[in-house]
Amino acid sequence: MDTLLTDIDFIDNRSAEQAACETKVSPETSTGNTRKLYIESYGCQMNFSDSEIVSSILLKEGFDTTSDLNKADVVFLNTCSIREKAEQTVRMRLSQINSLKKTNPELIVGVLGCMAERLKSKFLEEEKLVDLVVGPDAYRDLPNLISKVDDGDKAVNVLLSREETYADITPIRLNSNGVSAFISIMRGCDNMCSFCVVPFTRGRERSRDPHSILAEAQDLVAKGYKEVTLLGQNVDSYKWTSEDGKEYVNFAGLLERVALVSPDLRVRFSTSHPKDITDEVLYTIKKYENICKYIHLPVQSGNSRVLELMNRTYDRDWYVNRVDAIRRILGEDCGISSDMIAGFCTETDEEHQDTLSLMDYVQYDYSYMFFYSERPGTLAARKFEDDIPLEVKKRRLQEIIDKQREISYKRNLLTIGQVHKVLVEGPSKKSEEQLSGRNDQNKVVVFPKGNFKKGDYANVRITSCSVGTLIGEPVL
Ligand code: SAH
Ligand code: SF4
Ligand code: F3S
Repeated sequence: MDTLLTDIDFIDNRSAEQAACETKVSPETSTGNTRKLYIESYGCQMNFSDSEIVSSILLKEGFDTTSDLNKADVVFLNTCSIREKAEQTVRMRLSQINSLKKTNPELIVGVLGCMAERLKSKFLEEEKLVDLVVGPDAYRDLPNLISKVDDGDKAVNVLLSREETYADITPIRLNSNGVSAFISIMRGCDNMCSFCVVPFTRGRERSRDPHSILAEAQDLVAKGYKEVTLLGQNVDSYKWTSEDGKEYVNFAGLLERVALVSPDLRVRFSTSHPKDITDEVLYTIKKYENICKYIHLPVQSGNSRVLELMNRTYDRDWYVNRVDAIRRILGEDCGISSDMIAGFCTETDEEHQDTLSLMDYVQYDYSYMFFYSERPGTLAARKFEDDIPLEVKKRRLQEIIDKQREISYKRNLLTIGQVHKVLVEGPSKKSEEQLSGRNDQNKVVVFPKGNFKKGDYANVRITSCSVGTLIGEPVL
């Protein structure tokens, strides 16, 4: 299979945390607990963040995490349903894991996350060796569900909640580099993009109490973290009112409060929705040096008719207006990235050209690019025929990818000669003598190590670049 054409999730300038189809495995922790949990997470940052909550809940129940499948008493796959391929990957992994049961019949295998929510108890029928199926809002029930399985039963809880935000649970940071962490600020999604399974797997939108968000950010600063990313499917619709009705916080207000936690703490956020991002948010980003000048603003398509079929509730002109506002308020340097879907139902070649021309207009720093994958139960699956042949979808996707590579490189060339503030994340992939980190715009910057170390801020003059990386020298 040509991986470049099947389900391209990124071009090579995205940081590892953002890779949409990345897999993360729990690290080794040892607090002296006797049972071992191995957890493998798929999909988006929300899922990675949820795995940290799951580990926290189970730590109190006598579990340490392990990165070694063979040592595990419980194996969880935290799954994603966003595209068919994501589900296929999980099924393949499940069959591998189930073969471990032959040598260890006591092993408990559980499926968590979006696929668990979508398939519910059908999972137990389809995958006979799965013991546990738990949806994203039911993780507090895990200790009880595991004890049911210990007693020889199968266990399912896929209830969605209108309130659950896990606000009081301090996540166990899995796979964190100790510099950067995610903070979940809301759950669920109330939009109904016709292609998207998320509203079905994650339920209604709800915002987390800002006081618990701030406490989490403060705790991270105390532990030496230098960057937080506020997570939600649509962060711009964050809203919270205190029970007595006296305190109201919207996303701009939350961003400001988090920025004030420490001037040394970088603040990022994802994902912004074009219909909801306000000038107030943009002015808040401008006001604080430590809020990164980088916005992930998925467009999906550059054609207004397709956007309407997608039920995105904005058209091309609206989107262009939001991009113009970003450039006006935050300047040409502000990083902008996007998600794009090629070959949505009934999309013509001309409409596909509109996506390419919009990319030329916006000059995205990078994009996550996919071809349309029909998901059972979504509005599009019920209302439209998935009528674009696979070869056409793949060709259009490749055109989008080629265009993005060209634009990414052009945008990177513009930085040559400039000095960028880089938060060091660790040694570069290629050499221990080089460090790697990211600038404000979320671009990876590689430079000679000198006396810098992980967690430092370094001013780096950019001297050259590739499509995915900026290369430079520290300015002392
Ligand atoms: N809440 C975010 C997106 C979350 S899903 C937003 O609204 O932008 C991440 C991306 O997956 C989407 O932006 C979309 O580009 C892609 N995606 C979602 N459903 C898809 C499908 N059925 N086929 C192909 N790509 C899809
Ligand atoms: Fe899916 Fe749309 Fe919600 Fe994003 S905003 S999660 S694409 S329904
Ligand atoms: Fe996948 Fe669920 Fe995230 S479907 S993209 S893991 S919200």
